[in-house]
Amino acid sequence: RDEPLVLGIETSCDETGIGIVRGRTLLSNTIASSMDEHARYGGVVPEVAARAHLEALQPSIEAALAEAGVALADLDAVAVTSGPGLAGALMVGVGAAKALAVSLGKPLYAVNHLVGHIAADILDADAPPLEYPTVALLVSGGHTSLLLVRDLTTDVELLGETMDDAAGEAFDKVARLLGLPYPGGPQIDRVAAAGDPRAIAFPRGLSRASDMAAHRYDFSFSGLKTAVARYVEQRRAAGDEVSVADVAASFREAVVDVLVTKALAACRDHDVPRLLLGGGVIANRRLRDTALERGAAAGVTVRIPPLSLCTDNGAMIAALAAELIMSGREPSTLEFGADSTLPV
Ligand code: KG4
Ligand code: ZN
Repeated sequence: RDEPLVLGIETSCDETGIGIVRGRTLLSNTIASSMDEHARYGGVVPEVAARAHLEALQPSIEAALAEAGVALADLDAVAVTSGPGLAGALMVGVGAAKALAVSLGKPLYAVNHLVGHIAADILDADAPPLEYPTVALLVSGGHTSLLLVRDLTTDVELLGETMDDAAGEAFDKVARLLGLPYPGGPQIDRVAAAGDPRAIAFPRGLSRASDMAAHRYDFSFSGLKTAVARYVEQRRAAGDEVSVADVAASFREAVVDVLVTKALAACRDHDVPRLLLGGGVIANRRLRDTALERGAAAGVTVRIPPLSLCTDNGAMIAALAAELIMSGREPSTLEFGADSTLPV
């Protein structure tokens, strides 16, 4: 089959994403988020996310089919994220996908969430085709990973990842300690606009020469978060005014600097003049601009898919499965389960 019609199910975190693609063409991409329910806890609560997926799945599948103008019987395959992610949340999607595939008698493809983020780029109809090899930087509330993609379906290598908090999680935690609501990324972004990014020299995690030997492509944001907390506490204890705008701008600069520096180092080391960005933190204007500017200066072409494809979604899962099908990959057998730490 040249252009398989695939329905993708994504439930690895707090978004219930159902997407339908025909080959490399996006037909629908519905997203139901339980973000609001997590807001009062200041972060994603796994049990709440899993239950929200259960409730959202059926109506989301119906909405996606209607939007795409196709029926379940038309599908050539079902695809689902089997990991990495929150175990309970993943289990809901995997169970639903198996039930759907078995009841329809259609092949089922279990795919990796991180590789799915890379596949999202294929659905960007306005961009020229993705070329390989490419370096990919995926930054969200759940992950911060740097990958070398030599071939989407056969050769994706994890170069490095965060050793503690994800970048988006750091935004959320720092926003919280500054008294800003969840999710923190957009809030920090808003407040930082009025601040000076050079006001406070916050640490760049794992960037010292001694760290770079073993952790050249790894990230760490917990030290940065602690540094922000300590700075705010000390100023307040001394009775000094804290400029929330300067703290937000300086914190954001520290995150952006280390993300872009390490991503471009990976490009240089592997002689790859292409960098693909993905994940919800890509909404950050400063990150996009810095990557584009410093990428251009380094001779690296930076690709940024539309935000609706960068945040967690089912279309990217369907797109990856379509690529697997078109490359002749056999479907998954029903033995697979949710794997919260699934490697790429
Ligand atoms: O990919 P995503 O929508 O969902 C998951 O992580 O599952 O990413 C959400 C994360 C949150 O941590 C949020 O604070 C962060 O992305 N985020 C941002 C911005 N918008 C969202 N971080 C920094 N700047 C932003 N403008
Ligand atoms: Zn994700």
